[in-house]
Amino acid sequence: MSKIAASILSCDFSDIGTEIAKVEKAGADMIHIDVMDGHFVPNITIGPPVIEKLRKVTQLPFDVHLMIENPHAYVDIFADAGADGITFHVEAVKHHDRLLHKIKKLGKKAGVALNPSTPLFFLDHIYEYLDLILVMTVNPGFGGQEFIEGSYHKVRVLKKKMERHGFDIPIQVDGGVTLENIAKIADAGASIFVAGSAIFNTSDYEQTVKEMKSRITKTDD
Ligand code: DX5
Ligand code: ZN
Repeated sequence: MSKIAASILSCDFSDIGTEIAKVEKAGADMIHIDVMDGHFVPNITIGPPVIEKLRKVTQLPFDVHLMIENPHAYVDIFADAGADGITFHVEAVKHHDRLLHKIKKLGKKAGVALNPSTPLFFLDHIYEYLDLILVMTVNPGFGGQEFIEGSYHKVRVLKKKMERHGFDIPIQVDGGVTLENIAKIADAGASIFVAGSAIFNTSDYEQTVKEMKSRITKTDD
């Protein structure tokens, strides 16, 4: 079953609570929260105190995407703040196996993210511990960038590789997802679609989410 994860990076930050309530009502399946530290990526966003406050405004799962150095030191506080899933970048971590187990021990879904130029073999020895694989389809750091075309192939290869080895871990794509390309990305094998500007830059979130879902359900069948 495919899902839409609304990325609040592109929402009106002066009124985040209302924006989240609106995308929940619009039919989004989860709230994607981009945490940036100004080191791993050239941008700074929000941290645990904000997430803790936002936890009260919605029932939707919080999908926390950590674009930070040394995530090992911070996963506990993100778990306490209300994350349901925590995804870290393989490029920022030396001991992937250790961190995955730490996240799972906290009772949270554990995901790893790959930058566009990071090869899939980073996943070879950790598939069995993964609840989610995030394929970055833009270089992380900003909303509103253009989808990198080579990502279709990467998602397709990942899907095939998992099928060959008997894994069925959801593939999440993040960056440049639009109404125009969502069906093609779904066809390549992704099932969780992060969308920031494609939702928040429209005037009718419900209409947009509905249209996204109708385009991906066609490929679900
Ligand atoms: C970028 C973030 C994305 C971002 C996507 O580094 O990880 O989640 O919000 O934004 P759009 O959907 O506008 O490309
Ligand atoms: Zn993200």
